[in-house]
This record gives sequence, C-alpha cells and structure tokens, in this order.
Amino acid sequence: MSMEEADRPSTARMIDFWLGGAHHFPVDVAAARAFETAYGPCAPLFRELRAFLGRAVRAMTAAGMDSFLVFGAGVPTRGNVHEAAPEATVLYTDVDPVTVRLGQRILAGDDRAGYGYGDATDLATVDPALLRRLVPGWGRRPVGVVFLGLAAFLDDATLARTLDELYAATAPGSLLAVDFDSEELAAHPQALALMGPAFRMRAPAAFPVLLGRWTPTGDGIVPVTHWRPERPPALLPDAFHGGLAMRRPD
Ligand SMILES: C[S@@+](CC[C@H](N)C(=O)[O-])C[C@H]1O[C@@H](n2cnc3c(N)ncnc32)[C@H](O)[C@@H]1O
Repeated sequence: MSMEEADRPSTARMIDFWLGGAHHFPVDVAAARAFETAYGPCAPLFRELRAFLGRAVRAMTAAGMDSFLVFGAGVPTRGNVHEAAPEATVLYTDVDPVTVRLGQRILAGDDRAGYGYGDATDLATVDPALLRRLVPGWGRRPVGVVFLGLAAFLDDATLARTLDELYAATAPGSLLAVDFDSEELAAHPQALALMGPAFRMRAPAAFPVLLGRWTPTGDGIVPVTHWRPERPPALLPDAFHGGLAMRRPD
C-alpha cells in the first residue's frame, strides 16, 4: 500500500486488487467488490488478461521490439510489460495522476522502466525527455506499443483517430498490442451500469474500422484466452478480444 490515498476508484487499481497486488486503496477494493456483486468473480478474467499481455509482449520481443510505449498502463506490477520484457526499456503512461505517482514510486531506481503522464488521445502530452530515454528512436525504429484495457474508455471516433495517429507516429515494423471489451458485459446490466455511460463494448465486426491501417497478425483479434495459448484455454466468458497488429512498411 502506498502512502497516498485516493478518493475515487480506478479500474487499474481494481485490477491490481484482483491480481493480488498491493497497490490499491480502500475505495478501489469497495468498487471491485461492488462490481463482483453485480457481475461475479473477476480475478480469473483479469489473470487471463494479464497472461495475454505477457504472451503479447514476449511475442513482440521475439519479433525484435526492444522498447515499449504503454498507454493506459495502470499499475506496473503483477506481470506488466517491463516484467514480461526484462531486457527492454519501457515507458508507462496513464492519465490518472494517482496511478502515475504510484507507478513512479514502484519504478523508482529502475533505469530501464519509467512512468509519466500521457493521454493516449494526444501524443504531445507524453514527456519528450522520457520518450527519448526509454523509447529511443521513437518514430525512426520499430517499437512495441501497448494499448490494453484502454479502448473501452474511448468512443469510436476518438479511438480510430488515436490509433491512426499512433500509426503515423511509429516507424514501419512497429507492433501494437490492443484489446477490446466484448459485448458479454451486456448480460450483466447492473455491472455495466457501474462502468458508466461512456464505457464502450464492441463486436468483432467493429475492429477493422477502428484499427484502420494497423494490420492484425495472422492470429487475428480473438478472445484473449485463445491468442497463442500456451495451455488449453481457460473456460471463462469471452470478456476481452485482443491481439497484435503491425505497422506495415511504407
Ligand atoms: C482498465 S485500466 C487498464 C490498466 C492496464 N492497462 C491493465 O491492463 O491492467 C484503464 C486505464 O486507462 C487509463 N486511461 C483512461 N483514459 C485514458 C487516456 N485517454 N489516455 C491514457 N490513459 C487513459 C485509466 O486511468 C486506467 O488506468
């Protein structure tokens, strides 16, 4: 537990609670418990989602990515990007100031991973000095872009524009890890209501338009438990679809 308190829950810190982490506040635990009362157990789903992040990041590393820019990063622990890619450099960003400060404390003294404010919808908000240090060659050499747990908080037009701006900003050969919340939550209206009116669920038919110029790998954008599984996929609701997409050579 950090020394700082939060007066509003954050989905990122609720995930930390579900993953058995130590970086959340009473307000996050209360929100997580209320959500589970409406939905059912969440820990298994988020363990699978984090395992997907690990497989996706390791696949990006195997494809040559040695630096990562992470949007909507949440809490940088419990198998997050720098732990899945320990040889790489990683810049985590988020818009939630409490989570940013938490991340900065967690990563203090780590010279390969850092945390700064960054609004995914406005790349200019990412600190250029941090970008130079932790994502060297940004725009000139391929990097891994991690965009997980974030699409649900952006409307279609904003998400499509944001992903297109990222495409334009990255060098050819860059890889994007992305996920979308499925329509499964619609079967749990009280839980859906807790996510607020701006929360976006999406059907697979919407993915190509939102991804725009990003080209999914041959694996496609599929339920995350089915994306290059390393063991028989867990029998869980398909709450999240995800995959990797590539920035093609010009
Ligand atoms: C569901 S959490 C996901 C955290 C982490 N990526 C994970 O998968 O565990 C969503 C995060 O996105 C952040 N967020 C929301 N809108 C954002 C934006 N426009 N730019 C960057 N981060 C944003 C929130 O503050 C929150 O930390």
